[in-house]
Amino acid sequence: MRIAFFSAKSYDRKSFDRFRKDFAHEITYFDTKLDQQSATLAQGYPCVCSFVNDYLDKPTLQKLSKAGIKLIALRCAGYNQVDIKAAKQLGIKVVRVPAYSPEAVAEHAFALILTLSRKTHKAFNRVRENNFSLEGLTGFNLFGKTIGVIGTGAIGTAFCRIALGFGCKVIAFDLFENEELKKRGVQYMGLNEVFMNSDILSLHCPLTTETHHLINERSIQILKDGIMLINTSRGGLINSKSVIRALKNEKIAYLGIDVYEQEEALFFQNLSEQILKDEQISRLMTFPNVLITGHQAFLTQEALEQIALTTLQNISSFENGERMENEVVFDS
Ligand code: NAI
Repeated sequence: MRIAFFSAKSYDRKSFDRFRKDFAHEITYFDTKLDQQSATLAQGYPCVCSFVNDYLDKPTLQKLSKAGIKLIALRCAGYNQVDIKAAKQLGIKVVRVPAYSPEAVAEHAFALILTLSRKTHKAFNRVRENNFSLEGLTGFNLFGKTIGVIGTGAIGTAFCRIALGFGCKVIAFDLFENEELKKRGVQYMGLNEVFMNSDILSLHCPLTTETHHLINERSIQILKDGIMLINTSRGGLINSKSVIRALKNEKIAYLGIDVYEQEEALFFQNLSEQILKDEQISRLMTFPNVLITGHQAFLTQEALEQIALTTLQNISSFENGERMENEVVFDS
């Protein structure tokens, strides 16, 4: 099948080119993001392949439909960026890669936790300048701490296993409880109870209308004083303004984020020669206890290979009229 591949990066080309021949698909790579303007590039292709910040709202989908698109192959797990209802109305199928490497994201969440708790980012810079002073580098042990997990799906489960390995007490909230995790010692409780009892809180639920701004002015009030908040899921789970206020009054003592509410205009690009117009991320970057990565939690070799394989397989299933196990179905 001919695929119009948007937001193409060097690492995407490498992994997709490696497996493409096995599937006999033809890929045209476009560096540009997929949106209303760039949708015209998909003219004559039956399939587009897009990533997390390719914004597929109704007008973009209408343009894609006119261009002849029958399939949207998301090379990511989350699909909050796609108007699934509009896609269904237009007869466009949507497939995704539900669990390419839960460990990649869970391990990155721990990279954020350990960097913040042991201040290795500061130590790295100091030592490079021959500054071997330990002043201000005091950290804290993870052993014995209570880690709260919101969402114990594929990534949340991998995260819980790592947390248990560190000797943490793990408490969790999800709409569905995972019996295997319970056997391993994870304790499920109400959302507010998790908020109240966590020393570290890590978000692993999808962004939906229910979870939008889960961390807001009200929920921050009930968090433990001095909490560490980690978000590797979607930026919209956190109200950035409220979190900035909580960092200023020291209610939140550490913030580690791989995702950001307005990341579409920033992430996956080199903006080092430009003036950032986004006041919130600029403010967040001024805090010494805030660590931001640019949506890289998924970026491991293992995950990239799995993303390429599953995406190409999803496209083949569509082409061959087979059952598409990774189809995103509109849930009214
Ligand atoms: P999953 O679908 O396996 O698990 C999501 C879990 O969240 C499910 O157990 C579900 O029941 C639960 N959930 C749904 N609504 C909830 C609510 N209102 N409150 C609490 N729990 C709720 O998804 P997976 O693979 O674990 O991914 C989770 C999220 O991680 C994705 O939606 C995506 O946004 C994000 N992600 C981020 C990446 C990154 O590079 N930073 C890469 C991949 C995913």
